[in-house]
Amino acid sequence: MTALAQRSLSAPGLDVEKVRKDFPILGQEVRGKPLVYLDSAATSQKPRAVIDAVARYYLQDNANVHRGVHLLSERATKEYEGAREKVRRFINAARAEEIIFVRGTTEAINLVAQTYGRTRVRAGDEVLITEMEHHSDIVPWQLLCEEKGAVLRVAPIDDDGQLLVDELQRMLGPRTRLLALAHVSNTLGTINPARRIVEIAHRQGIPVLLDGAQAAPHFPIDVRALDCDFYAFSGHKLFGPTGIGVLYGRSELLEEMPPWQGGGDMISSVTFEKTTWNKLPHKFEAGTPDIAGAIGLGAAIDYVGALGFAAIAAHEHDLLTYATEAVREVPGLRLIGTAKEKASVLSFVLGDVHPHDVGTILDQEGIAIRTGHHCTQPLMRRLGVPATARASFAFYNLRSDVDALVAGLHKVQEIFR
Ligand code: ALA
Repeated sequence: MTALAQRSLSAPGLDVEKVRKDFPILGQEVRGKPLVYLDSAATSQKPRAVIDAVARYYLQDNANVHRGVHLLSERATKEYEGAREKVRRFINAARAEEIIFVRGTTEAINLVAQTYGRTRVRAGDEVLITEMEHHSDIVPWQLLCEEKGAVLRVAPIDDDGQLLVDELQRMLGPRTRLLALAHVSNTLGTINPARRIVEIAHRQGIPVLLDGAQAAPHFPIDVRALDCDFYAFSGHKLFGPTGIGVLYGRSELLEEMPPWQGGGDMISSVTFEKTTWNKLPHKFEAGTPDIAGAIGLGAAIDYVGALGFAAIAAHEHDLLTYATEAVREVPGLRLIGTAKEKASVLSFVLGDVHPHDVGTILDQEGIAIRTGHHCTQPLMRRLGVPATARASFAFYNLRSDVDALVAGLHKVQEIFR
């Protein structure tokens, strides 16, 4: 371990070597080298506590929720609804009924587009997004706007990847039915000033959806302080299982919205002539939900809570600062995304070398990064690059991971010299 890496172990409040022991997957070798996992923005690794919670559910408690009179069903329901309460506390929502379990951020945004959007947006209306959105916060609105004859408008960013808030403000108007934007950009790491933006939109009575997929793993989310109307995030980026995510919605809005999917559990009564809906949150959870996923997400929230976001944020800030400095030494490397406020994401291009080649060579060194357009093709076009290489850090990364990345990038340079 380098001296610099050694120092990172004393980052305030977080014993990273101890933390890493909770993540069995990180201890392995890949391609004959110790794994250096720098792709947590795509999906994070899972602590043993999460894996155990899912296994325990299947080993001891597996039953369907809300319908059984038997003990296993009671236990499963208690755990599933307990997970909802953990999510409520995690994002400081006022009520557990405002927490809808979905498959992930993508499904959450589609749900809002297909229910809130379809009832509120009419021909000639506008939905405003930003240039840095992930496809999951573009395409659902495109589908909606096409169907309704509405207009999808896009607020611009500057060359550092920062939202031009004044421009955004100018684009809000009497026809704007919703503003949807990333809390943190998955490609650039930019942290948007969400509270300020919500305030601006609300002054004109425009509701705001925040895509929190890349925010929830890095800092505390307080939907009441943000005052947002909808907040979406995914379990698998938050050290929980895949296939589970959350849509938070203000209860007044959720009450008014029609259901999206029909089926079991979302009804109050059904006849062939008419069906009435169950109360929140069940109105939006048709069919058997991902019970194990919700329980695993609850365990992930407990795990992150025990580490504490103060310690997590301090360590990730240290990693980002260290990495940003370190990669500057790599000839030809250009950072993509240099906002003042950033989460621990480092996107870059390396001279003329295609990012996929960078990723493939790094993989031979045991280093996992993501390369490509990161599901943000319009953003790539805006920045004038076809793709980037992206290293993303979580609290279980070490400065030595950054050192390995830099050494790997030097190797790429040698190969392509
Ligand atoms: N949205 C995920 C990412 O940014 C998959 O990698």
